Amino acid sequence: MQSFKTIGVVGVGAMGKGIVQIAAQAGLTVLIHDQQMSALHAARDDLENTWQKLVGKGKLTDVAAEAALSRVHIAQTLSELADCDLVIEAIIERLDAKQALFKELEAVVGPSCALVSNTSSLSITAIASACAHPERVAGYHFFNPVPLMKVVEVIDGLRSDPAVGDALMTLTQTLGHTAVRAKDMPGFIVNHAGRGLGTEGLRVVQEGVTGFEVVDTIMREQCGFRMGPFELMDLTGVDVSHPVMESIYQQFYEEPKYRPSPITAQRVAGGLFGRKAGAGFYDYIDGKKKEAALPAVPTLDRLPSVWISPAHEEGHGMAVQVFKSLGVTIQTGSKPDEDSLIVVTPFGEDVSTVVAYQRLDASRTVGIDTFGGVSPARRRTLMVSPATTPQWRDAAHAILALDQVGVSVIQDSPGFVAQRVLATIVNIACDIAQQQIASPSDIDRAVTLGLNYPAGPLSLGDTLGAKRVLEILNNMHSVTGDPRYRASLWLHRRVQLGLSLLQPSATA
Ligand SMILES: NC(=O)c1ccc[n+]([C@@H]2O[C@H](COP(=O)([O-])OP(=O)(O)OC[C@H]3O[C@@H](n4cnc5c(N)ncnc54)[C@H](O)[C@@H]3O)[C@@H](O)[C@H]2O)c1
Repeated sequence: MQSFKTIGVVGVGAMGKGIVQIAAQAGLTVLIHDQQMSALHAARDDLENTWQKLVGKGKLTDVAAEAALSRVHIAQTLSELADCDLVIEAIIERLDAKQALFKELEAVVGPSCALVSNTSSLSITAIASACAHPERVAGYHFFNPVPLMKVVEVIDGLRSDPAVGDALMTLTQTLGHTAVRAKDMPGFIVNHAGRGLGTEGLRVVQEGVTGFEVVDTIMREQCGFRMGPFELMDLTGVDVSHPVMESIYQQFYEEPKYRPSPITAQRVAGGLFGRKAGAGFYDYIDGKKKEAALPAVPTLDRLPSVWISPAHEEGHGMAVQVFKSLGVTIQTGSKPDEDSLIVVTPFGEDVSTVVAYQRLDASRTVGIDTFGGVSPARRRTLMVSPATTPQWRDAAHAILALDQVGVSVIQDSPGFVAQRVLATIVNIACDIAQQQIASPSDIDRAVTLGLNYPAGPLSLGDTLGAKRVLEILNNMHSVTGDPRYRASLWLHRRVQLGLSLLQPSATA
């Protein structure tokens, strides 16, 4: 197999510099080139500073830092890259610029030199189409900041020689990163799989279910995510996230699963780009997010008994567990008393739908989310219909907060917040697997390392119960009529056959 010893990096901005850093630290000779001479010298100085800082922190020896710096050479002209066996391109994200560079490079390097692009959003096949030897071209997609983000997508274009990708997979190990292999499809793996969290969070807010702060809190405190979608968009930059949402949606010919939202378009138009602008979804003071005050928990004059609908067996069992632990009397008749709080535990349905088909008293019916289990360590979500009276809403809120567990109160929503967002994430990952863009295990690896989710989306689906995820999607689809929620065939078939979502398809 081809192995890479001398590599060229063209474009030494944020990404190129990070790639040079890990390559030189791994012992490779790196030639750097940029159209701006000043950028080249700045990059070398920055790298020297970075390595000195690592020495200061005891993470690198003096000798290793010096050796790394000695491996970085400035190439003033492209022709100085002639002896490279790999050139990594990290220039401006424009197809014409990348095609022109690759064409020029082909005239400079030897026949066995691989030419790879760090593009996030352009087609590798389209970049390669400008080359006389498109088989030597592949995608090599790092994430920002390169030394800390340990995953790299290796992308095969339509005409790429698989041996180039194989060699990149091996090189990635040398660099101390994890490689995942993807087909040349919009968003590759990570930027495709990442469409679930943001777009569904936006739909929840757009539907008036609740505000963005509550969505973020639920995703963190109920689902274990490090950040909710709005905190994440503020960090990435709403001006970066919104065009990615639009681009993936357009590239998949308006697939409803990736539908963007006017909410982010408006923030971009208003210059509310997020953390870097001091304001996005949140305001930032000295770079610190300004926290909104939490709504007060209502007080309770008397503790009503609770009747829990037995219609969803598993949800019923979990709700009983919650209310028992709170010391509430649970009324067990087949119908609720005149004076009990009525609790339903829907999966993918809203309270209104459940009230209608179970013929319940809407004024005192609330929903609680039992998806993924109930434990005092997890925030609770309480959902009301347009007919639930404020008195019964407040009573339910006060009861659920009796043991000081956080409670989020939301308006009616098919699938609360957590069910909707998690099911959407799992469904999109299933579609990526179904389209054979990557293997199931690479999808999970890429998402865990590239997006920092608490688990890979396919394992998450298995843990939550693939059958339950399918039920949620089917119900969301039926309540809303929105094709966005149609379940992936990958999910359908694995539920029908009782298989794990990580089970690859047998080769036909
Ligand atoms: N920034 C990210 O978060 C990120 C993450 C993954 C991938 N990428 C991709 O990496 C690439 C670079 O992004 P970046 O954020 O490092 O950009 P950047 O603007 O920080 O750096 C680009 C560098 O390329 C140089 N350059 C531009 N056109 C050139 C040309 N024709 N020839 C030689 N040098 C040229 C510029 O002078 C600049 O130094 C893009 O394709 C981008 O989509 C970026």
